[in-house]
Amino acid sequence: MSKELFTFHNGVTIPSIGFGTWQIPNEEAYDSVTMALKNGYTHIDTALAYQNEENVGKAIRDFDIARKDVFVTSKLPAQIKGYQETLDAFDETLTNLGMDYLDLYLIHAPWPWNEIGKDCTEGNIASWKAMEKLYNDGKIKTIGVSNFEIKDIQALLDNCDIVPMANQIPFYIGRDQKDLLDFCKKHDIVVEAYSPLATGQLLDHPVLKEIAEKYDATPAQVAIRYCLEKDTLPLPKSTHEKRIIENRELNFEISAEDLAALDKIEDVRG
Ligand SMILES: NC(=O)c1ccc[n+]([C@@H]2O[C@H](COP(=O)([O-])OP(=O)(O)OC[C@H]3O[C@@H](n4cnc5c(N)ncnc54)[C@H](OP(=O)(O)O)[C@@H]3O)[C@@H](O)[C@H]2O)c1
Repeated sequence: MSKELFTFHNGVTIPSIGFGTWQIPNEEAYDSVTMALKNGYTHIDTALAYQNEENVGKAIRDFDIARKDVFVTSKLPAQIKGYQETLDAFDETLTNLGMDYLDLYLIHAPWPWNEIGKDCTEGNIASWKAMEKLYNDGKIKTIGVSNFEIKDIQALLDNCDIVPMANQIPFYIGRDQKDLLDFCKKHDIVVEAYSPLATGQLLDHPVLKEIAEKYDATPAQVAIRYCLEKDTLPLPKSTHEKRIIENRELNFEISAEDLAALDKIEDVRG
């Protein structure tokens, strides 16, 4: 891979491909995370809401790797807003994981999932202040947000001390999020690409398949490589070892011409 690490604005680095664990049940998470670690992933993405932190943490702790050599991300549930509420949820996450610090903690979304778009600015500011405290206390190496639009980030910039270090957003071929990417770049915020395969929906696209053949790669590899070409950090998820291996074998570069062809693909999720 050409770029092994992204660097946050506080100097901390993060491996440039993360292993996603959404929709992996707790019972399966142990084997999936173990497979990922065995095959070279050193960056694991989970969340309290995924209800698998317990076995994600156990897999990491049981594996023959030092804690400092694995980058672990978790998230404050979208419906939990407020200062004390955030401190409490963070404690729950650390307990679930069986760890004494996190590498990255994110506000999962600016609004609860059952009230998408609701204005929770005050709650997000209160949560962010709690995350700043946890960061200043050394309990988290980096702090960030997820699913935040420009206005949501701007509210934190206007009212808080620490500029978010990451924004984890849906990003895949067909969903380029250009304005948000430009804004994040301007503020030195690393963009993490979640659902880099559009949760699998992208993989049968004829243009993607045709371009993948040219590179002797799979559609998944081109889709993940595309995120890196756009300077975003992909978080592919799989529970199958063959795919887990494939998803980080990305030793090729997509030409400008092929990137332009991929850019023309419409959002498969409409
Ligand atoms: N912050 C947020 O709100 C948020 C939201 C969504 C996702 N995320 C994060 O981003 C991660 C990835 O997103 P995602 O789970 O939506 O999905 P994704 O990585 O875009 O796609 C996963 C799907 O593609 C399949 N797949 C994976 N690799 C493949 C390959 N090489 N060939 C064919 N099929 C393949 C998987 O099936 P199998 O598992 O059966 O192999 C699964 O059905 C999540 O796990 C989570 O960590 C964050």
